[in-house]
Amino acid sequence: MSHRTVFGSVHLGYVVVETEKFADWRRFGRDAIGMHLDDTLPEVIRFRLDDNDCRFLLHRGPAEDVTALGWQVDDHDTFDEILARVTGHGVPVTDGTPEAAALRGVERLVRIPGPNGLTQELFTRAHTSTTPLNMVTRGGFVTGEAGMGHVAITSKKPQQMRGYYRTVLDARLTDVIDETISGVKLKIRFLRVNERHHSVAIAAVRHLPMNPIRTRVQHLNIQVADLDDMTAAYQRVKQLGFDMALSVGQHTNDKELSFYAMTPSGFEWEVGWNPVVVDEATWEPTTYQGISIWGHTPEGQTIVDKLHQFKLGAQSLLHHEDPVAALAGTGIPDN
Ligand SMILES: [Fe+2]
Repeated sequence: MSHRTVFGSVHLGYVVVETEKFADWRRFGRDAIGMHLDDTLPEVIRFRLDDNDCRFLLHRGPAEDVTALGWQVDDHDTFDEILARVTGHGVPVTDGTPEAAALRGVERLVRIPGPNGLTQELFTRAHTSTTPLNMVTRGGFVTGEAGMGHVAITSKKPQQMRGYYRTVLDARLTDVIDETISGVKLKIRFLRVNERHHSVAIAAVRHLPMNPIRTRVQHLNIQVADLDDMTAAYQRVKQLGFDMALSVGQHTNDKELSFYAMTPSGFEWEVGWNPVVVDEATWEPTTYQGISIWGHTPEGQTIVDKLHQFKLGAQSLLHHEDPVAALAGTGIPDN
């Protein structure tokens, strides 16, 4: 097996959501968050952030959850390298159908089983739209080299999940946050696959194999270019009657200013501005105490309540978690 690195050549390209709540999602995505709604295809709705045809694909189903992440891979050699790693570990790769690729607006689509039931998809090129962007976010969204944003995943098996993303995508540890919420100690590991501070964050309850979050993704994040667009989105979310999870605040590690809204499907949606960009030449991982310098005050039902419920013994929230052990190796222990 080769050791060619794929770090820096992989970028979060799209996110797939399964939901029955199309009407709510149209209002949430277009009117509250401020994305371009593409309602032209039957059976699905899509949102654009930029020239790409599709950054969010919503298709009908009962999950009310993110079901897949789409990773853009810069070239076919890198793509082949990742496939060789996956199949070399005995894990099957499924070719995406032409229909699935068309819905995502991409070329050379494959699907790989991912930890916590979150399918990982790879593609080489995204198609761009000829339809001009029509969205209230005047300054646009930050995508490009850094990808479209990040996801945060809660896990009972964080070391194995880190092992998976290292095996498949050469993910590097950017930093760690220790946080205590409602008396529950959390450790959050931030992984990067390019210059974005993190594309995947893994949150775990320390020393206890439990995961209080129903959805595969606890929150996802997109980044606006202008601060005014972040504050305007915050106001629209509230004015349109969507639940806010966390008010505006600033994170300790990536210094991003952001808020967290609750999506119609019940996972959280972070809109952020101005996170730090990692310089590989000088970056050193550190551990921070607490997720926020200021703000991010809980509003309504949030992870805070879920952790509190868990502490009170809501063991029914426990669910099985498949780490895709063949790709996780023995996991990466804490250091
Ligand atoms: Fe985040």
